[in-house]
Amino acid sequence: MTASPLASPEEAAPSAPIIGRRPRRLRRTETLRRLTRETRLGVNDLIYPLFVTEGAGRREEVPSMPGCHRYTVDLLLEEIARARELGIGAIALFPLIPERQKDNTGAESHNPEGLIPRVLRAIKQAVPDILVISDVALDPYSSEGHDGIVRDGEILNDETVAVLVKQALTQAEAGADFVAPSDMMDGRVGAIRQALDAEGWIDVGILAYSAKYASAYYGPFRAALDSAPQFGDKKTYQMDPANAREALKEIALDLAEGADIVMIKPALAYLDILWQIKLHTNLPVAAYNVSGEYAMIKAAAQQGWIDEKKVILETLTSMKRAGADLILTYFAKEAALMLREGE
Ligand code: PBG
Repeated sequence: MTASPLASPEEAAPSAPIIGRRPRRLRRTETLRRLTRETRLGVNDLIYPLFVTEGAGRREEVPSMPGCHRYTVDLLLEEIARARELGIGAIALFPLIPERQKDNTGAESHNPEGLIPRVLRAIKQAVPDILVISDVALDPYSSEGHDGIVRDGEILNDETVAVLVKQALTQAEAGADFVAPSDMMDGRVGAIRQALDAEGWIDVGILAYSAKYASAYYGPFRAALDSAPQFGDKKTYQMDPANAREALKEIALDLAEGADIVMIKPALAYLDILWQIKLHTNLPVAAYNVSGEYAMIKAAAQQGWIDEKKVILETLTSMKRAGADLILTYFAKEAALMLREGE
């Protein structure tokens, strides 16, 4: 091993003045730092995921996600109005479905009088200018807790896609601006696009969960929606965390099938994937700052171990820097407030 040329301050002391090599010059004052900042997080980048439940007048905190709640539709409308007031322009909806409405084919997912269609209609009436993204997947509706129909322990692809198409059409009919297939079945983006177009929903967009990994970071979300798999795991449809090139393949397929926005999920442990995908596509790229990422920050902050506000902004900024144009985050309101206050 050779000794580092900067091993000690004496050795490092320059014999001649350093010329043109003072990066610290640009960090000297806050004004300079602002002028030379490369990445800017803004409220327009944020999408606020929200959990909705049946009933009225209730707001239940999700134990694994302090600060996040499941709202009945009346209180959801109030929460959306608060988000809107902070400048947040888009929300993503996820339902808690009662156990008795779940079955293996997720039939409730395309019931026009189901929870999500009713909520979509209510939102469109009360807060028409908020952009609403609704999730397309069977897991909240599945007695098996899987994103697809199960037969003999296997997740059926094409049979599931047929149900996802019905679900997407039901949501479009009820007023969804975007549908967001989060299931990872093959060919679903193309099938949904074709069906939407055939039914005249040409303006309904598709936010595709294109590179969605089989991640342990979804734990708190599954607890929130009571949607954990009843057997096995999701590794036959969600991606192996060790793979990067496979993400590019998934993105290419979703692009060809008609996705309007592509998403990478989770975000924090996959910033390299975000970066690569940004270089490979001209579509807007979204990152999902998932429930486990949220819960870790909340837990450490509650212990007093980290400065929550600073860590939130640093984390979201890292996602933007890595290539995210949009970020789904449970911190949307906190971030919007801090950005407004110029922190
Ligand atoms: C399921 C879905 C999941 C999330 C969004 N949609 C969980 C899963 O795939 O098991 C996770 C979101 C989060 O963890 O915040 N279709």
